[in-house]
Amino acid sequence: MEIKIRGLRKRFYSEGKVINALDGVDLDIEANKIFTLLGPSGCGKTTLLRCIVGLETPDEGEIQIGDTIVWSKEKGIYVPTEKRQLGMVFQTYAIWPHMNVFNNVAYPLQNMKLPKAEIAKRVAKTLKFVQLEGYEGRPSTRLSGGQQQRVALARALVAEPKVILFDEPLSNLDAKLREETRKELKTFLGELGITAVYVTHDRVEALALSDMIGVMNRGNIVELGTPKKIYFDADHQFVADFIGRANLVPAAIVAQQEASTIVQTALGQIKCHRRTFAADDELVLCLRPEFIEVEKIEGSDVNHLEGVIRQMIFVGEVYETEVDVAGQRIMVKLDPTTPYNEGDRVTLSVKAEHCLLVSK
Ligand SMILES: Nc1ncnc2c1ncn2[C@@H]1O[C@H](COP(=O)(O)OP(=O)(O)OP(=O)(O)O)[C@@H](O)[C@H]1O
Ligand SMILES: [Mg+2]
Repeated sequence: MEIKIRGLRKRFYSEGKVINALDGVDLDIEANKIFTLLGPSGCGKTTLLRCIVGLETPDEGEIQIGDTIVWSKEKGIYVPTEKRQLGMVFQTYAIWPHMNVFNNVAYPLQNMKLPKAEIAKRVAKTLKFVQLEGYEGRPSTRLSGGQQQRVALARALVAEPKVILFDEPLSNLDAKLREETRKELKTFLGELGITAVYVTHDRVEALALSDMIGVMNRGNIVELGTPKKIYFDADHQFVADFIGRANLVPAAIVAQQEASTIVQTALGQIKCHRRTFAADDELVLCLRPEFIEVEKIEGSDVNHLEGVIRQMIFVGEVYETEVDVAGQRIMVKLDPTTPYNEGDRVTLSVKAEHCLLVSK
């Protein structure tokens, strides 16, 4: 089911101050896709999720799930949480430690007062789906973190919701398990084909999992797009900076050409991927370290920057390297087998198509 959000506002009052947790959010979430809300701590992700679920009452606006308006101030509509047909997985393992796996998963169905045989059948089907067949009698405390997370997922899925919502469900897992569970989750959700709304502040998680990403900042959605659009072709500095490593340098347009835009920066003149802006937009050039070659590559569409290597930090796969170009620190990546050392003069090459202009 699709979700439509219009003009959603939620204010909190704390210590005499007003916090605009949601500042007029408009958002369409497509049916049967994985949609991720990505943004820094405190930007309003959990508040938005809680409003969709019905655990938080907005101040203004409207929320529609499928064909049903579940909340509207103007129309005086409020559909309670249990009637919204949603499943939710929280940040902390919200499974009950005193219950075994079966009872944890069966709980929502017992609440619905379904016949015992029906409950047993549905729990078995769901446990099979999350690959926890045979764990029914296991006390839930005697499971690994990933298995506990799968119990929480099973419990959210067992009532066959039309939409499933996740609030940072993997943040308590260690890095390796998080990666594994992320892959499993992507497969599960793909097979299920239901609408999933996923909240995270982890950009890699957002890129890896989502069909669409909504980047949030200060109670608003700044930009919407596919992972590739957000990563390669963001419109705003905040988004370009949040989604990955970025060298950001103020820029001013000098000329527009057929396929490129020429800008003046502290690095010199740079030929960029063509973009148009409003006359009063303040612009920033975004160069991702992975697109900067530390060698001279010829070509009419290649920008060259002369610099000196200031620092090389070995992080395993690469040296994270800082190059001083005209007084600006530019981050690049060097292969672990690189012949370069700190202090060497280098020429950086970056293709115009990888020079992204964004508005501030
Ligand atoms: N019950 C509350 N009372 C007062 N302020 C609140 C309350 N809940 C949230 N806030 C504030 O609203 C803003 C948005 O909070 P929210 O929990 O939605 O952020 P978030 O994006 O989920 O952050 P995180 O990534 O840290 O979980 C924050 O400034 C937060 O302090
Ligand atoms: Mg949160």
